[in-house]
Amino acid sequence: MPIHYRSDGDVAVLQIEHPPVNALSLEVRRGLIEALARAASDPAIRAAVIIGAGGSFPAGADIREIASGAALTPPILLDVIGRLETFEKPLVAAIEGVALGGGFELALACHARIAAPGARVGLPEVKLGLIPGAGGTQRFTRLAGPQAALEAITSGEHLPAARALALGVLDAIAAEPLAQAIIWARRLADEGAVPRASEREERTAGVDPGLFSAWREAHARKYRGQLAPGRIVDAIEAACTRPREEAFGLERQYFLECRDSPQRKALMHLFHAEREARKIPGVGPDVEPAPIRRAAVLGAGTMGAGIAVCFANAAIPVTLLDATEAALERGLSRIRELYRESVERGRLSAQQAEAALGLIRGATGDAPLGEVDIAIEAVFEDPALKREVFERLDRNTPPHAILASNTSTLDIDRLAAATGRPQQVVGTHFFSPAHVMKLMENVRGTASSPQTLATVMALAKRLGKIPVLAGNCDGFIGNRMLQYYGAEAERLLEEGATPEQVDAVIESFGFAMGPLAMRDLSGNDVGWAIRRNRILPPDERWSPILERMAAEGRLGRKSGQGFYRYEGGRRRHNPEALALIESVSRELGIERRAISDAEILTRLLHPLVNEGAKILAEGIASRPGDIDVVYVHGYGFPAYKGGPMYWAEQDGLEKVIATLERLAPSHGQRWQPAARLLEAARRGGWDAEANAQPA
Ligand code: 3HC
Ligand code: NAI
Repeated sequence: MPIHYRSDGDVAVLQIEHPPVNALSLEVRRGLIEALARAASDPAIRAAVIIGAGGSFPAGADIREIASGAALTPPILLDVIGRLETFEKPLVAAIEGVALGGGFELALACHARIAAPGARVGLPEVKLGLIPGAGGTQRFTRLAGPQAALEAITSGEHLPAARALALGVLDAIAAEPLAQAIIWARRLADEGAVPRASEREERTAGVDPGLFSAWREAHARKYRGQLAPGRIVDAIEAACTRPREEAFGLERQYFLECRDSPQRKALMHLFHAEREARKIPGVGPDVEPAPIRRAAVLGAGTMGAGIAVCFANAAIPVTLLDATEAALERGLSRIRELYRESVERGRLSAQQAEAALGLIRGATGDAPLGEVDIAIEAVFEDPALKREVFERLDRNTPPHAILASNTSTLDIDRLAAATGRPQQVVGTHFFSPAHVMKLMENVRGTASSPQTLATVMALAKRLGKIPVLAGNCDGFIGNRMLQYYGAEAERLLEEGATPEQVDAVIESFGFAMGPLAMRDLSGNDVGWAIRRNRILPPDERWSPILERMAAEGRLGRKSGQGFYRYEGGRRRHNPEALALIESVSRELGIERRAISDAEILTRLLHPLVNEGAKILAEGIASRPGDIDVVYVHGYGFPAYKGGPMYWAEQDGLEKVIATLERLAPSHGQRWQPAARLLEAARRGGWDAEANAQPA
């Protein structure tokens, strides 16, 4: 039975025990209804406390049940919450660990909520393409007011207990939440229960309706194309403007609309894919990650400084090394600046920032390497320099230490060969800015040992990152796919599209930034320098546009103009860039034509999917979902479309094949549909099982 019932004198304690996270699946819902009936009918019981075992007051509805798409077997969560609302005796929730989604909705329907100091609560449904469906938007708004509800529920953030208490959605914080909850329950039984959240109106009466229109306007760009965030705003507005019954009914209606939407399906696919991606094929759970107590990061540049911050934020002491005092100081001052900004924006308290900064040391000599468990190099992307750095790391770190590279493209095996411990060499590819971007693309070298892999995957979790394990090849998963996308954007320009049109198509698809605005951001000289080192097969060519842009000093944002002109940070049409593009078309003898948005979209995204299929066939990615996770968390692919592989499968793999068959004659053999893509189209899907073979 997932509900353990016991009595503590005159208080019934209902403990939910349904590992791993006490999700509110059918057995739990049934068990709760039965336990409530027992507590109601026992005259010796005057009040009840609900608690979750194992550090989780339910973490929500059972995602697997929702994902199955099948109609839920009653009692549904709404029935359980309805029973809580009509329960005759005082009810208190005792929260240890997390109370999320439907779990927090359960707590919100109690008379009071007591949480442990380290507890986190919240309504993260939006991250799954849902809105809270069991009264969460209504009760939260009635307790905390609409502004706080808009902020918390549209972001889906987990609120630390202290913040939740300040907002009014918790009633107390206690080191022993269960003991305190029993005391509260008894007191409520003595003094008469306080009104429930659903009965309170002081925070929802007289709210200025302009709050909601202003919120919608301010977030229009962020919510573009998405269903759930807007519906959350509608539901919170209803809590303030409609009669109670009607507002609760509207929330339910919006929940069902979101639940049945393709966006919900895509986001749940991603939730599942992120968790699958942590599992390493061929490495079982019996392989223990090595402890990481101290780290070193070599290279105090853009990436090294960000990576050091990741360690410090996870409370792991880290030494940042660079070749010169000047370079080191640049890195350290960038770090101080990052923490200053975090404090200014309220993301960290001054003490937290101070504590994190205290964990970062700087050095130019090798002595600090002698005490680390992992060293990550982030020096210039130069193979000879990197090999030299690996030799140095091998000489100066303890024999057990893991040596990792943040390289975006270089061969991990060649770096491993520079050391006497290839089994402890691995790639840890962070994305820029490293302290913000969630993806960590770990790269498995031929010799990387199971423990090394388990260690960097576990490290990612400790650093708050989402890891994916890639095989060793040029560009790994993400950058290998990206080469087609960038190249095709320029081919579209040659044929008649404008930078504005190309970017608008990609941005309205849901990416934060189109490919040409992105080039301007990273610098056209940088893009050209990377391209110059790449060798194309003889039947392919680069468009000369990027090289011309770099040669003419149209470097992008940093030089004030590139594909766009920049005025006060805003991008504007650049007639000179268009003239350059048109002259390239003329020189190549291409007659410019009108190109449809649909053509732009498919020509940019379908080649990504084709390369994804090759990456799967070669075992560079273990599952299609791994590629989706990489693209969503590293490259800005809209999460609510599930990632490129999922999106293509939903949209029709035969369409991908058709695009590639059209492009291959003019673009080269590599653009032919891949065998794995043709096979997937024949089978009607990627069939993830065909790749992943976890131990
Ligand atoms: N339902 C079913 N399974 C769940 C689940 C849920 N709500 N939450 C987590 N799990 C599963 C995971 O899939 C994973 O399974 P696996 O071991 O087979 O891969 C296992 O529990 C452990 O989860 P994590 O690996 O994510 O563990 P962490 O310790 O890293 O994180 C957590 C724990 C913070 C609870 C995280 O799992 C989480 O954020 N879960 C989702 C919370 C959520 O979104 N709740 C809202 C659900 S929708 C809802 O409630 C609708 C309602 O309004 C009607
Ligand atoms: P950067 O040029 O900003 O920093 C490199 C740093 O390494 C400099 O501070 C330099 O002084 C230092 N350095 C050079 N030789 C050294 C040595 N022998 N010992 C110690 N320090 C030395 O470079 P960036 O952008 O931080 O890139 C670093 C690595 O990260 C590269 O491999 C790059 O490919 C990779 N990367 C870069 C990303 C980006 O967006 N910038 C994204 C992901 C990976």
